[in-house]
Amino acid sequence: MSSVAAIDYAHEHHARFLEELKALLRIPSVSTLPEHKPDMERAASWLAARLADLGIEAETISGNGHPLVYGEWLHATGAPTILIYGHYDVQPTDPVELWETPPFQPTVRNGNIYARGASDDKGQTMTFLYAAESLLQAEGKLPLNLKFLLEGEEECGSGHLKEYIAGNGERLRADVVQIADSHMFAPGVPTLETGLRGVVYTEVHAVGAAHDLHSGLYGGVAPNPLNALGHIIAELKDIYGHVTIPGFYQDVRMPDEGILHSWRDLPFDAETFRAQEVGSSELVGEPEFTPLERIWARPTLDVHGIVGGFTGHGAKTVIPGQAAAKISMRIVPNQRADQIFELFHNRVLDLAPPGVRLEVQLLHGDDPVLVPVDSAYVQIACQTLQQTFGGSVVLGRSGGSIPVVGVFKELLGLNSILMGWGLPDDNLHAPNEKFMLDNFYNGIDATIRFWKEVGRLGRPAGRME
Ligand code: BES
Ligand code: MN
Ligand code: MN
Repeated sequence: MSSVAAIDYAHEHHARFLEELKALLRIPSVSTLPEHKPDMERAASWLAARLADLGIEAETISGNGHPLVYGEWLHATGAPTILIYGHYDVQPTDPVELWETPPFQPTVRNGNIYARGASDDKGQTMTFLYAAESLLQAEGKLPLNLKFLLEGEEECGSGHLKEYIAGNGERLRADVVQIADSHMFAPGVPTLETGLRGVVYTEVHAVGAAHDLHSGLYGGVAPNPLNALGHIIAELKDIYGHVTIPGFYQDVRMPDEGILHSWRDLPFDAETFRAQEVGSSELVGEPEFTPLERIWARPTLDVHGIVGGFTGHGAKTVIPGQAAAKISMRIVPNQRADQIFELFHNRVLDLAPPGVRLEVQLLHGDDPVLVPVDSAYVQIACQTLQQTFGGSVVLGRSGGSIPVVGVFKELLGLNSILMGWGLPDDNLHAPNEKFMLDNFYNGIDATIRFWKEVGRLGRPAGRME
C-alpha cells in the first residue's frame, strides 16, 4: 500500500489497463499510409471515448489530415493547468518479416509488451489517461486542470496540428506542457529531457533525359540523374561527419562547459553502446566531439532513401530518366529550420551536374528546443521521478525530434516537461517495438505524484517562464 489512494487504485487496476492498451495497439494507425485512414479515425474515436468515460469532456476534431483528439477537465479553480500532448499515430511496420509476433497483435514477453506504437507513443500516452482515471476514481477530482491534445500526424511532421495551435491559442491556454514521448537514459535511470533536436526533412528530385535510355546507345552523352544524386550527396558531408554546406554550422551554439561536463559523468559507455545498440564496427561522426555530444548537441545530415533506375534481379543496362533522394538534417540550437533549408536548397542546386534538372522540396521543418531547468515544474518532475523510479534523475537531451514542442513555445509561450517512460532499446520505428510494463505502471504513478505536487503550486505563480 502506498500512502496515495490514487496510486493504490492504479495498482489494483494494472491488468485492465494493460488489456485496454492492447485494444488501442490493435488499431493499425499508420499515419503515412493512405490505406490506414479509417484506422486513424478509429484510434481517435477510441481515445475520445476513453477520455469521456473518465469524465473528461472530449471530442475528435476533423479537418484536413488525421483527426485531433481534444479533452479538458477544468474544475480545479486556482490550480495550474497542464496541457498534455501525445500522438496516436505510429510508424509503418516494414520489414514486417522481422517481427517475432505480428506488429498489431500486442504480445507480452519477458515483462514487455511488443507491438507497433507500444512505446511510441500509445503506451506512454495512455499513462496520462490512467493517472487521470486513478485520481478521479480514488479522490473524486483532479488536483489540477488538464487539457489533452492528442494527434495523429506526429510521425509526418504535425503539419495540421501546427495550424490548429495557431488558431486556438485561447482554448489551449495552459501553464506548461507535459509529454511522455521520449525515453529514460537507461533502465532504472529516470530522465528529464532538457532539449530536442529539430529536423529539416527534404526530398531532392533529379530529372535527366525525357525517358529511360539504353546505356550502351546513350551512355556517354545522356545525363544520369542517379549519378547526379550520388555526386550531390557525396559533396554534402565529409567522411568525418562534417556537413560541408557553407554556413551550416554558423548558428550552432554548444552547451556551456558545465553542462558538457555533467554529460561526461553520465553512466554511458560508448563501446557498449556501439556493440549493443548500434551493432556497427565503429561509431562515426565528428571526432572532436564525444558520441553523446554528437547525438544531443551537434547537427547532422543523413540520406534515408534513394529511388530510381533498375533494382530488380540481374542486370539491366538503363540510364534512368529520373531519380529522387530523401535527405534530412537534424538541427540544434540556435539553428533555424527555414534557414537551414535555404542553405541546403542553394547548395544542392549549386552542385547540379550539367543536363540534370533538380527540384528540392521541404517535407517538414522543425526547430530545435531547449527546456529551461530553473522552474518549479522541473524541480517537481525530478522529485517525483526519483520517488517513483529510484536513482537520481538525468538531465540530458535527446537527438530525436517532436515537431510540435517548438511550436508550443513559439505560438503559446509554453515550455514542455519532457519525461518519458521508454527505454533506449525499445526499437522505436523498427521491428519488435516494445514497452516495458514496469515503466508503463511506474509512468502512471509518477504522473499521479507529479500532478498532485503541481496542484499545490497555485496560479499564476504556476506559469513556467
Ligand atoms: N517520440 C519520437 C521522438 C523521440 C524519441 C524523442 C526518443 C525523444 C526520445 C517521435 O515520435 C519521432 O519519432 N519523431 C520523429 C519526428 C519526425 C518524423 C518529424 C523523429 O525524431 O524522427
Ligand atoms: Mn513519438
Ligand atoms: Mn516516432
